[in-house]
Amino acid sequence: MNTTVNTNSPLDTLDLASYGPVIPVIVIHDLAHAVPLARALVAGGVRVLEVTLRTPVALQAMQAMAAEVPEAIVGAGTLRTPADVQAASAAGCRFGVSPGYTSSLGRACSDAGLPLLPGVATASEVMAACDEGLRFLKFFPASAAGGVPLLKALAGPFPDVVFCPTGGITPQNAPEFLALPQVKVVGGSWLSPASMMEAGDWQGITRLARAASALARA
Ligand code: 3PG
Repeated sequence: MNTTVNTNSPLDTLDLASYGPVIPVIVIHDLAHAVPLARALVAGGVRVLEVTLRTPVALQAMQAMAAEVPEAIVGAGTLRTPADVQAASAAGCRFGVSPGYTSSLGRACSDAGLPLLPGVATASEVMAACDEGLRFLKFFPASAAGGVPLLKALAGPFPDVVFCPTGGITPQNAPEFLALPQVKVVGGSWLSPASMMEAGDWQGITRLARAASALARA
């Protein structure tokens, strides 16, 4: 776990990769799960948490995690519009993740001072994000878009870009992605299964987080 980054200073998105090899993609349906989940993940060494803006309680969940679990670095996932960016910022999020990239989303993040990890799946999308000065990109949906072979192909023309593959990543295939030099971190929902949250199995989630933290990187 990185201990040198000041968690109160503005983040460069690439800092997010320095905390560990996996960023959990979290869907919260029950607000009561938010804080225990964040504590369980942090206890397993996972501090960077992406909470998706996909449920009615998502913003309140981000707010609660950011306020009550200071070791957690809480970000908002599924950002699609400038309004999403403003809401995530107001909820105390430290970074944003989007499934794709639009210039209005980029402008909104820059106006809000919210570092953005935008999704790309093609060479043209990588070029568009690079034009905006972004060099750390989410590769989404990683498995469906072409997985490791596509990432290897993109490494040729884009040696200066770092990717966070997300979408279809599992504990079984994560090592293949993390073995690529241009991958420093992967995203995935397997650290916060709905069934374990509903059962209150926070120790089980800490075990999943600990195993994810131990995954090797190139
Ligand atoms: C998502 O959009 O939900 C993320 O990409 C996570 O996908 P996963 O459930 O395949 O990890």
